[in-house]
Formats: sequence, C-alpha cells, structure tokens
Amino acid sequence: MLPNYFKMAREMSDIISLYPWQWKGFYVTAFNRIRLWFNRFDLIEQCIPEKGKIVDIGSGYGLFANFLAIRSRDRMITGVEKNPRKTKYAFRGLKNTEFITMDVRDYDLNSCQAITIIDVLHHMNSFEQQEDLLRYCYSGLDRGGVLFIKDVCFEPYYKFFLTRIVDNCLYMGDRFYFRKWEDFRSVLEKTGFRVEYVTLHEGSPYSTYGLLCAKDVV
Ligand SMILES: C[S@@+](CC[C@H](N)C(=O)[O-])C[C@H]1O[C@@H](n2cnc3c(N)ncnc32)[C@H](O)[C@@H]1O
Repeated sequence: MLPNYFKMAREMSDIISLYPWQWKGFYVTAFNRIRLWFNRFDLIEQCIPEKGKIVDIGSGYGLFANFLAIRSRDRMITGVEKNPRKTKYAFRGLKNTEFITMDVRDYDLNSCQAITIIDVLHHMNSFEQQEDLLRYCYSGLDRGGVLFIKDVCFEPYYKFFLTRIVDNCLYMGDRFYFRKWEDFRSVLEKTGFRVEYVTLHEGSPYSTYGLLCAKDVV
C-alpha cells in the first residue's frame, strides 16, 4: 500500500494541489487524499474520452470530476450531486467544470459523450432506481459515447468486509444496495450497452470494480 501512496503523490500532484490543506475543509482534503490513494482513478480516467460533454453523477466533493477536467481542458464536465454540503466544496476554479445540486433523476441528461458513476449506485434508494438510472444514462448518451461505472462487489470477501465497515461509518444509518457486478452487466447489456469489466481492486483495500459500457455507433 505504501508504494501506492508515493506513486499517487508523485503522479497526481495536479489534482492533489486543487484541495490544499486548510483549517476549514480539513476533513474534505484528508478524505480526498485517502480516496486518491485507495482508488485507481488514473485507470478510470484513461477510459474516458478526451473531449466533449461529460456528466459525473453523484460527484460528491468533485474529486473525480475535477480530475477528469484537469487532465484534459477539452472535456466539459458537469457534476450532479444531491448533497448541497458536498457541492459547496466541489468547484475548484476550473473553467471546464460546473457543479449542480440536484437529484440526478431530475437532471436533464442529454447529448453526452461520457457519463461516470463512481461509487454511487449502491447509495441509491432501491435496485429499481439503479436500473432506471442505467436506462436513463443510455438515453442521455450520444452514439459512440461511454458510461463508466465504479462500484462495490462482494469479492474478495475480506475486502468487501472492510468496504462495508467504511460505508457504515461514513453513511451511518443508510441502507446500501450492493449487487453482483454480473447483475449490473446483464441489466446494461439488456439496455443496449456493450460492457467490458475493468479490474480496479488491485492495490486497493476495497472490493471494487469498473464497468466500461459503450453505446455503439450502429
Ligand atoms: C460515495 S459518494 C461518491 C462521490 C464521488 N463520486 C467520488 O467518487 O468521490 C456517493 C455520492 O452519491 C450521491 N448520490 C446518491 N444518490 C444520488 C442521486 N440520486 N442524485 C445525485 N447524487 C446522488 C451521494 O450524495 C454521495 O455524495
């Protein structure tokens, strides 16, 4: 894990410097650094088109949305987040970003080149809501566009155990809708996506995975 920390500090100094240590927001900076250390955002970023309209659903403190924006100024990123406390911290002055406080179900998703859903699906309010959102993403993407999903899976089980503890601490009292990644793949394929599994848990203490979903041109 420690080599990962030094790799992150060296190769992600651009995004790290967007969240400097400050008394106000100290928690957000610490939280974001740990998120960068424990998650392979660099691998996900490489799957996202370098230009066009991109919507990051459930953008939280804006970490991943800002990371996409900082790595290519030709990406126009909109972060949609329902928690106003989090959105307050998200805008870091990048001209190719905007952040909106809204439940994504009320957001008008259209003509996107990419949509990202990073650790959000298991926080939705039901399995039906998850499926509705995936279908909504399909309709909101241009042909040739991609949807990237990162979420929690059950294996390796010891990592899932830790992931649950972390979620229970951070979102005390919430119910989570964890689901096998194969179930998501089946819903996505029925919707019309071509789906590719992306390994993300290596070097991370969490049981996590990615699905790169393409809406084909024909
Ligand atoms: C674990 S956080 C992930 C934040 C961010 N994607 C990241 O990777 O740092 C999940 C976020 O999804 C947001 N969320 C859950 N359901 C949502 C919805 N229906 N509309 C918008 N945001 C939602 C939550 O408020 C929370 O901030």
